[in-house]
Amino acid sequence: ESINLQEIHDTLVLIAFEAGRMILAANPNDISTGTKMNSADIVTETDQAVERMITVRLKTAYPSYAFVGEETYVAGVTTVTDAPTFIVDPIDGTTNFVHSFPNACVSLGFTLHRRPAVGVVYNPFQDLLFTGIRGSGSYMQRNASLSPGSGQGPRLALPLAGQGTVEGGRTGPPLGDLSTALIAVEWGSQRDGENFEIKARVFRALTASKENGGSMVHSLRSLGSAALNLCACAAGQVDIYWEGGCYAWDVAAGWCILNEAGGRMVSGNPGEWDPAVDSRVYLAVRGASEGQKELVKEFWGVIGEGKM
Ligand code: IPD
Repeated sequence: ESINLQEIHDTLVLIAFEAGRMILAANPNDISTGTKMNSADIVTETDQAVERMITVRLKTAYPSYAFVGEETYVAGVTTVTDAPTFIVDPIDGTTNFVHSFPNACVSLGFTLHRRPAVGVVYNPFQDLLFTGIRGSGSYMQRNASLSPGSGQGPRLALPLAGQGTVEGGRTGPPLGDLSTALIAVEWGSQRDGENFEIKARVFRALTASKENGGSMVHSLRSLGSAALNLCACAAGQVDIYWEGGCYAWDVAAGWCILNEAGGRMVSGNPGEWDPAVDSRVYLAVRGASEGQKELVKEFWGVIGEGKM
């Protein structure tokens, strides 16, 4: 069976806009929320309704492909296989959505052999669309739903690091050390255990002055959406994104966009996207040069050698 990635991309873009309209239609004073693992792990009726819509659309268009969605995932039962698979987060940044903090998106990924092949990430609050197709580059589009052919209008190619610029993104080559880096980190909803202890330490380790035992990066950002962090890294707006605790649906789409912009996921369990064995630690860097290897080494050194 030959798989047309462009066609899948086009389908996902239209679904993303429909999801965006549903997300924007929710009344912020009347969002019905529930919790999952703990009180910081939030789900809303909108997450569930958007996932139902996406499922129906994808099962109609591609009945033979597998589907993994955040809201229908069952621990110990749901797996990601080598089959063509849609991996979907109906709202990445649910906490932001609940608080009307306009940094949330729908994240639609498609994987082949557990590797990202198409990624569509759409922030409806900013009408900002990021897309990527394996082997065909990645793009950013502002006012995306207003453009002719919705999503098909002029797009801004995300350049290979060091080879150009992108509106709002950084122009220089990838960084060789952490001191001038802007780094995205997230706290996630797990608030105990070893992962959490490392996160609690990382803030100080990365921001303190060198004399004070830190690496004094330019700053840290925690904007609340894994998928948008990966897109920011792809666009050169942050240099590194690190988190322990993500799931495949948080990263599947953004990973494709990052790869196609010349960035790399240097820790992310490639080929083991089975939620049961995935250690769920993701470290993304913009650019993939030798210099970046040093940067990554320095980063792991600061937070505790490769360990989460
Ligand atoms: C969450 C967001 C958040 C990250 C969490 C994710 P959700 O996704 O991406 O930034 O810290 O790890 O679970 O729950 O809003 O889809």
